[in-house]
Amino acid sequence: MSNETIITVSPHVLPTLPYVDNALAPVISAKIISFHYGKHHKGYVDNLNKLITGTKFADMPLEKIITETAGKAGKTAIFNNAAQAWNHAFYWLSLKPKGGGVPPSTLKKKIDASFGTLDACKKEWSEAAMAQFGSGWAWLVLDGDNIKVVKTTNADLPLTKGIKPLLTIDVWEHAYYLDYQNRRADYVNAVLNNLINWGFAEDNLGS
Ligand SMILES: [Fe+2]
Repeated sequence: MSNETIITVSPHVLPTLPYVDNALAPVISAKIISFHYGKHHKGYVDNLNKLITGTKFADMPLEKIITETAGKAGKTAIFNNAAQAWNHAFYWLSLKPKGGGVPPSTLKKKIDASFGTLDACKKEWSEAAMAQFGSGWAWLVLDGDNIKVVKTTNADLPLTKGIKPLLTIDVWEHAYYLDYQNRRADYVNAVLNNLINWGFAEDNLGS
């Protein structure tokens, strides 16, 4: 991973949003950002710090806390808050103002090799986002030499399966409900067409 902003040690801090709060409008409003970043993301970071104070996890980087607690009985709360802190930092970097469009050439070639076309990739990704029942995440990942779409439930993430995430879309209702109500497909397609940060994915390919 090249995104060193995510690798933090205790006390974990809420990473700075990589753009101003209205920069993603009208696709994602400043009102959503104020709750999603300012309340939900901050809440995961604050809860994590409370849960790990005085434990063996207190001085671990976020990624290590996640891999050490995944699937472990009695560690669910730490895992959920650590994973959600990581997922949200990665999500903000997966978006950018005036995103979308055509990926950089190296990534585009890999997408074409894996899916046939960029449109086929976006279609599969959008369908995965819709098929995720309840809360979760829809990811573009690098698995071996192939680019794939995977979905995860609640706080789960590809890192626990040894798969490298390239981009993610948050499909928890808190990510879109204020702007889109139950129209998750409209939110996902608007993100894919207007905000997705293909350059971040290309950076992640080589890291
Ligand atoms: Fe979220």
